[in-house]
Amino acid sequence: VKHALPQLDRSAATPMAEQLAAHYREAILAGRLRAGDRLPPIREVAESAGVTRATVQEAYRRLGERGLVEGTVGRGTTVLPQADAVADAASPLSSFAAAALRQSTTMPGAPPLPRGRSLVANFAELAPGAERFPVAELRAAMDHVLADRGGELLGYAHAVTGLPELRALLARRSESLAGPSASADDILITSGGQQALDLVLRTFCAPGDAVLVTAPSYHQMYGLLTAHGLRIAAVPFTADGIDLAALAQTLRSPDVRLCYLMPSFHNPTGRTLDEPARRALVDVIARTNVPILEDEYQHALRFRGEPLPSLRALDPRGLTVTAMTFSKGLFPGLRTGWVHAGPALLRPMAAVKRFMDLETSALLQAALVEFVQRGAMDRYLDALREELAVRHAALQKALARQLPPGCSLTDPDGGFVTWLELPEAGQGDRLADLAAERGVRVVPGRVFDPQGRPSRGVRLSLTRADAAQIDAGAGVLLDCIRELVHGPTAAASRSFA
Ligand SMILES: Cc1ncc(COP(=O)(O)O)c(C=O)c1O
Repeated sequence: VKHALPQLDRSAATPMAEQLAAHYREAILAGRLRAGDRLPPIREVAESAGVTRATVQEAYRRLGERGLVEGTVGRGTTVLPQADAVADAASPLSSFAAAALRQSTTMPGAPPLPRGRSLVANFAELAPGAERFPVAELRAAMDHVLADRGGELLGYAHAVTGLPELRALLARRSESLAGPSASADDILITSGGQQALDLVLRTFCAPGDAVLVTAPSYHQMYGLLTAHGLRIAAVPFTADGIDLAALAQTLRSPDVRLCYLMPSFHNPTGRTLDEPARRALVDVIARTNVPILEDEYQHALRFRGEPLPSLRALDPRGLTVTAMTFSKGLFPGLRTGWVHAGPALLRPMAAVKRFMDLETSALLQAALVEFVQRGAMDRYLDALREELAVRHAALQKALARQLPPGCSLTDPDGGFVTWLELPEAGQGDRLADLAAERGVRVVPGRVFDPQGRPSRGVRLSLTRADAAQIDAGAGVLLDCIRELVHGPTAAASRSFA
């Protein structure tokens, strides 16, 4: 019997929730519950086992934390792939590893094209295309530093916060972001933006805490939060901005220990908060002592408008960390990023980073400094920003102005991504499937929802499509959208009109 009732021992020291969790863990291990199976509804278990719903909820939460099940709105709690491996009590895996394993096997993304279908446009990838990389200039910079200081750069630099010359250079170049007081002492070099995010979580949060995120937000962050045993407290971010009332309400919970925000060229929507919105946001958060993690992953990619003050520059408490990366504006392969924060926050972060990897590659940091000093970075960035402006204009022309009523497309001032919304929840996800059948790859919006709920949106990224492909891809998307919104006949008659 699949859902045999758990044998609960009320006199045992083990809490009821843990006993319930153990029951379902054993069912998974014994193969009575398999990947995709649903756990019984919480109410049902509570009634038949004679415990409160909260106890059952807690049991399911514990199973989720261990990477065995996943709660999805509308589908209940289902058993995850690989759950049997993870459920094995003899398994040597930590809860962190179990969660990471689960994430790697269930990571959703853009639907693949059907076999034999040729690509019309790839709007899925958010990594810059290699054909534009200034490889020769990086090689020259690398040769130079190796010839000049090879022996020194191949040893330990004994610089956990990063090479002083790179930090000084970044401080000079980041004035628009950090404000006039930018100093090399406020910078710590990391191995990519991803390490910066992990480092901040390790520095400010402990298992059981909650982290405030916007919905939608960067999907890789959700897996990382879950692996760290952190609860996700989501606050809506729509065309009207971040819901500040919901944010203030969420911040009342003492569990919330960090706010993860992306004020510029937000992933996945491309939206940027203007200065009044930034001030209003910081104003609410600054009434608490909850730190802000501001992810400026595409900071260098503004192609229109003036730079805006960072949340860090606006935070009177000095409790904001800004995470930056070379991955989107230059190459992800260097795995180099950095954080800006005041010394009081940087000191503990440096101590934590030392445990993670001692230090970031000195050779790559030195090559980057040389590369920037030769002007190669600015040449590359100028050309990339120009190309981005062309691509976004092509998308606006081909798509935004033709959309049926109730649909919308964001019009970002920088970065690679835009967000297309259809009138009803779930239509974004259906659009991703339909478009893939016709050769266009987009990422369905549910990927960016912390609970994986059906979405109105899809993310369009312009890293891999030139203006001609954007035009062709937008044509396919429009046909799909009309079909989804008006039904297939309406779409057909429209295209003859
Ligand atoms: C919002 C956001 N933050 C951070 C990162 C991390 O990038 P990296 O580790 O390559 O610097 C990414 C990568 O796509 C991202 O989209």
